This record gives sequence, structure tokens and C-alpha cells, in this order.
Amino acid sequence: MNPVIEKAVAIGETITESVTEIEEKAAEIIDDDETFDDFDDFDDFDLATKEINPSENPPEYIYTAVESYVNWTQRSVRRFVKMLTRIDAEQLPNSIVDVGGGVGLSTLLLREQLDEAFPGNSIRVVYHNFGNDENSTQLKFAKSVLKNSDRIEYIHGDVPPADAYLFFEFLEHLPSPISWLNELLNRTSPKIICHASSFSHPEHAGHFEFYDCSLLGDGTKIVKGRSASGQVSKFLKKREFQKISHKICWNGLPQFWSNSDVANHFNR
Ligand SMILES: C[S@@+](CC[C@H](N)C(=O)[O-])C[C@H]1O[C@@H](n2cnc3c(N)ncnc32)[C@H](O)[C@@H]1O
Repeated sequence: MNPVIEKAVAIGETITESVTEIEEKAAEIIDDDETFDDFDDFDDFDLATKEINPSENPPEYIYTAVESYVNWTQRSVRRFVKMLTRIDAEQLPNSIVDVGGGVGLSTLLLREQLDEAFPGNSIRVVYHNFGNDENSTQLKFAKSVLKNSDRIEYIHGDVPPADAYLFFEFLEHLPSPISWLNELLNRTSPKIICHASSFSHPEHAGHFEFYDCSLLGDGTKIVKGRSASGQVSKFLKKREFQKISHKICWNGLPQFWSNSDVANHFNR
């Protein structure tokens, strides 16, 4: 077995009590020079221009997925749950999908945070990713992480309908994020969309310098990364979502968007 997969699977399997334990161990994986050295070609890997098909994740991808969680997404998950505590109970989502859920840590943390904030809740939590390749380091890690909860569903392929979608460090991995969102919203009716998307960082694995922000993904609106976030906002407004401003964090991230039912039951 590839040494990184071996390490990742071992890390995932050792969680016994809380997600904090795995967070610490996951942080070790990205600080571990020895493991990092296993990848001689890491520097040559053409990350900024190439779409990475998740079912063909190169082993190096585990770094991006773990790093993304450790450095950014764990905060987004905590803030998302904090936002939920401000919504009147009748408008709370019954189902939440962590779309492009990476190594599964964000979904595990989400489950833990929800159970802490809403004891006895029956909110359905879904880890989602696109590929289901047994050889993908990311999915191997994710599956070993997800074994630590029997209250998380694993779904791959199409994003299932749900009340809330989380897009954490995910949309910027899609070359045509608007047409992708458009297709999703044409067949589902979420009431909450929460996203944190690093569109202006083309240097990261699987990100792009330019995005096709046309509605149909026909190349008629190619924009620089830094403008893509605004295009997503514009699109969500067109689909009648409202951005709920919050002061949970100075940079307003993650962005929390909802339909008017939720917005009218939000206690700022
Ligand atoms: C940086 S990781 C973020 C993982 C997780 N949401 C987090 O924040 O910890 C990006 C995720 O997007 C998925 N992804 C990347 N490129 C994709 C593509 N072209 N289509 C679908 N999913 C993709 C990857 O499999 C991965 O799970």
C-alpha cells in the first residue's frame, strides 16, 4: 500500500472519542517531512491549470484535502453550526450535505458540532464526493474517518437533494462553477447554501486562474479567479437566495445564503 494511504488509514482508524484527536493527527500528516519526501514529483505536479478528477486523485492530493480542512474548513464548519443556532427551530435544515467532502473530517466535525448544539437532533448528515475509486488516497482516508460515526451517510456521484449544502473549498475546483450550481439548483431546492471558496488562489492544487462563469458553461463569460466569487453571489441572488451577514468572523466567511423562509427566521 502507498505509504501515505497507509498512514492516512491508520490515522482515521485510531479515533476513539472525538474529532479533535484526528485533527491533531491529520495536522501531523502535512508536517511530516518524511511522508512528504515520498513524492519526488510533487513540485512538478501541474496543479494550477489542471482539473483534478477526484476519482483519479494522485496520492499527493491528500495534502490538499487535509491542509484545506486543518487550515480553513474546520473553522467554517464551526461557524456554520453557530449560524444554525440563530435560526428559529422550525426552519432548521433536516438534511445537510457536505459536498466535495474531502477527507471526511469536515463531515465528522459537522456531526459532532450539530450533536453538541442540538442534542437529540435527527438532522441527516451526508458526506458527498464525486468519485468512488478504491485507490484514491482521499477516499480511503475519508472512509476510515467516517467509520467513526454511524450517523453519517456516504454518497458519491450526483449531489442528493437536501435542505442545506456546504461547499467548503470546493467550488473553486470546478472550471464552470455557475453552470454546475445552476444544474444543481434546477433539480434540487435547498434552503441554505454555505460556502467558502478560494477562487483567488490559482496556486493551489486543482484551482484555476480563470473560471467560466457563464450560466451554460459555454465559455461566454471567462473571468479571473478574483471575480468568480462575485459571480457566484450574483447567481445566488438571481436564484432568490439572500446573503445573511454575520459577525461571527471578521472576514464574513463562510458565506451563508438562504431562502427567504430561513432569512425571516434568523436572529441576528
Ligand atoms: C480542497 S478539497 C476540500 C475538501 C473539504 N470540502 C474541505 O474543505 O476540507 C476539494 C474537494 O473537491 C473535490 N473536487 C476537486 N475537483 C473536483 C472536480 N473537478 N469535480 C468534483 N469534485 C472535485 C475533491 O475531491 C475534494 O474533495
